[in-house]
Amino acid sequence: MKEKWWKDAVIYQIYPRSFMDGNNDGMGDLKGIISKLDYLQFLGIDAIWLSPIYESPMEDNGYDISDYHKIAPEFGTMEEMDTLIAEAKKRHIRIIMDLVANHTSKEHKWFKEALKGKDNPYHDFYYWSDTKDNKEASFGGSSWEYVKNLDEYYYHYFAKGQVDLNWTNPKVRKEVANIVNWWLDKGVAGFRMDAIELIGKDLKNGIFANGPKIHEYLKELNQNSFGLKEDSITVGEGWPTPQIALDYTMPENKELDMMFQFESACSIYLPDNGLGKFDPLPIDLVKLKAIFAKWQQSLHNKSWNALFWENHDLPRSVTRFGDDRFYRVESAKALAIMLFLQQGTPFIYQGEEIGMTNAYLKKLSDYQDIDALGNYQALAIDKKLTTPEKFLEGLQKGSRDNARTPMQWDDSINAGFNKGAKPWLKVTPNYKEINVKQCINDKDSILYTYKHLIELRKSKEYRNVIHYGDFKLELADDPYLFVYERSYQQQKLLIVINYDNDVHEINLNQKPKKILISNYKTSSLNLKKQTLQPYEAIVYEL
Ligand code: NOJ
Ligand code: CA
Repeated sequence: MKEKWWKDAVIYQIYPRSFMDGNNDGMGDLKGIISKLDYLQFLGIDAIWLSPIYESPMEDNGYDISDYHKIAPEFGTMEEMDTLIAEAKKRHIRIIMDLVANHTSKEHKWFKEALKGKDNPYHDFYYWSDTKDNKEASFGGSSWEYVKNLDEYYYHYFAKGQVDLNWTNPKVRKEVANIVNWWLDKGVAGFRMDAIELIGKDLKNGIFANGPKIHEYLKELNQNSFGLKEDSITVGEGWPTPQIALDYTMPENKELDMMFQFESACSIYLPDNGLGKFDPLPIDLVKLKAIFAKWQQSLHNKSWNALFWENHDLPRSVTRFGDDRFYRVESAKALAIMLFLQQGTPFIYQGEEIGMTNAYLKKLSDYQDIDALGNYQALAIDKKLTTPEKFLEGLQKGSRDNARTPMQWDDSINAGFNKGAKPWLKVTPNYKEINVKQCINDKDSILYTYKHLIELRKSKEYRNVIHYGDFKLELADDPYLFVYERSYQQQKLLIVINYDNDVHEINLNQKPKKILISNYKTSSLNLKKQTLQPYEAIVYEL
């Protein structure tokens, strides 16, 4: 397979409103990001995926764009955006934009035009219907919104203010290609493509995702925009199976480079009771291992994995997958090791590298997210699937706001996110212990585990085995141990993780040569009847 820069890359996601508030108004901004580029260079990342910074009424924190060519004033100016691209470049860091093109904000000029009449040229930029069906929007309520002066409904998969673009209209597709080219010309490296599997929908036939035309649209977009740039990167967001991901990402298909998959990061714990992430099941390690193995093996030598535990839509991984009470540091390191030794490009979400936890917000009024508030109304109040009290507990587990609290930089006011202005979302009280400054000063911190993992992935000796090695799951049925082997030519790595808050014994015949990384000083080269400490994680060379 062709060598691409992003195969050697580690990508860091920034959620701009929560990263760093450079002008002390309570809202993170571009100026703040620029001021933290040295930190990101120190960590060793190669690219930043920037969640949306475009002009937006912020109904869904920027995932509702009203102008793709302007910067939201709360985040800064286009000049600052240019500075960010240039300053990042100086530090060998590329910028990946978030392309939200399944929908626009209802404030976008196209939609404003569309509302003027059925014969307006922009009317056909969106989906309309004389009647509505029962389809529910993902933040609660109906997917169809009535417009009185047109006497018809428009379709929205997400919030009312996020109106789905009609990709069957070639003019829409042309506009999207223009936007992509405009940003590429500015010097960005590529795009994370929001909800991309929804663009090929076929509403009349009840197909909402992965519709029949999606591959045609993506091939066309590729040909007319990012495909013209040899070193661009595209990562699609969706909920694919490995086969679907392959269709999107096999290089010969000329569509996207990678696809996020949510099977490992969450579908495993979603119950079937209508409450989903707000009533998560405990993690089933045997299932989780099987999912990772399936993805590793299915894409092997055919395509490329996008590896992640966290993003701005998911709870904090150390809370969900580790133990944020008694083994926060150990389990956060174990999760990092588990992911970074797999095949694919790893993504780190801001704060993950210091083991930030869920926010544990106490009152409904502390939540800001349209998903939390909309679903509270829809699931707890309207449908009464649970009580308001139980739903609040569910928000502490599953709300997206858990990962959106201000980045914890140090132990000063507001965690160093700014100089004291009230942040748009509460700072998590544990910032006095959990912050970047503390981590930098402690060579045994989670941050250094990430730093060392990044170095390991890039090292001459181990790059190939991590990139191209076969993946073999060992002890597949063991409910506590996650053990896998990576092998390439003569080289073999063995990754051993005790995924539990209790000690467990491992008993393998392998005789490792050395330990490359581990999260306990006491980790042993012996694997025969060896006791592993809670969340002990070791990378061996065999
Ligand atoms: C996925 C984004 O990551 C999420 O934050 C957003 O709410 C939806 N797509 C809609 O754009
Ligand atoms: Ca600000």
